[in-house]
Amino acid sequence: MDHEEVGRFWNDSADAWTKLSRAGYDVYRDYLNTPAFLAMLPEVEGLSGLDIGCGEGHNTRLLAQRRAMVTAIDISEVFIAHANQLEEQEPLGIDYRVASAVELPFADATFDFVTAFMSLMDIPETDRALAEAHRVLKPGGFLQFSITHPCFDTPHRRNLRDENRLTYAIEVGDYFRNLEGEITEWLFGAAPPEAKQGLSKFKTPRFTRTVSQWLNLLIETSFQLERVEEPRPSDETVRDCPDMQDAQVVAYFLHIRARKPGQTTLA
Ligand SMILES: C[S@@+](CC[C@H](N)C(=O)[O-])C[C@H]1O[C@@H](n2cnc3c(N)ncnc32)[C@H](O)[C@@H]1O
Repeated sequence: MDHEEVGRFWNDSADAWTKLSRAGYDVYRDYLNTPAFLAMLPEVEGLSGLDIGCGEGHNTRLLAQRRAMVTAIDISEVFIAHANQLEEQEPLGIDYRVASAVELPFADATFDFVTAFMSLMDIPETDRALAEAHRVLKPGGFLQFSITHPCFDTPHRRNLRDENRLTYAIEVGDYFRNLEGEITEWLFGAAPPEAKQGLSKFKTPRFTRTVSQWLNLLIETSFQLERVEEPRPSDETVRDCPDMQDAQVVAYFLHIRARKPGQTTLA
């Protein structure tokens, strides 16, 4: 399966994804992943940025609200249509385009920074996507991305729960077998049945890489690792959103910032 075929799966899920995430059911994004990503993000005010795999644009808008000049791409035209619709209603100056991370339609050294919120692990050509991010960065610019944690989003995974239904461990296996497009069918677990009514499940192709594969690809692409985080929810967050208790047991997400060597133009 190549990136274009993957894109067709995402396009088919884009309406339901947009509806449910805008209704607040992407709780791991809203309560954990995005706040942690933004806490790790360097100052971007006045910088030009590219957001790769922007979906319906929720996180892109947060970058623009930090006064970055943001361009955003997604392979799904349905997601980009939803993102543009909000941009028309509440303009933030975001330039959305339909494009693939594997073939970015930008000249070399265009951007001060590149972000990819939970999208790089959905692209089969991992090496080409990283090489493209590197190519379009100015020397001294950075790539910051989040992915599902390779150690805990494995081909085999099962939540082990106690008598109170609390997760006390995650059983993982088959870590070294790279998934290359196996389809998972799911909807946001936090969405109640009435919100899911009439919606088809997302069908998302999975591509898994080990931690060493990710790090070595970054190194081979000539990125310098700068920061790594494994966010977890606070007790307070779990009180507000009990569905997220399992994310306190192991790291569900991995956040990495890496820099393109060279004379930095950044503060
Ligand atoms: C898990 S969603 C994340 C969306 C958004 N960044 C967010 O955090 O809400 C993954 C996104 O990656 C996009 N995507 C998958 N393959 C892509 C590719 N080759 N180029 C650009 N976007 C891609 C999908 O269409 C989808 O919008």
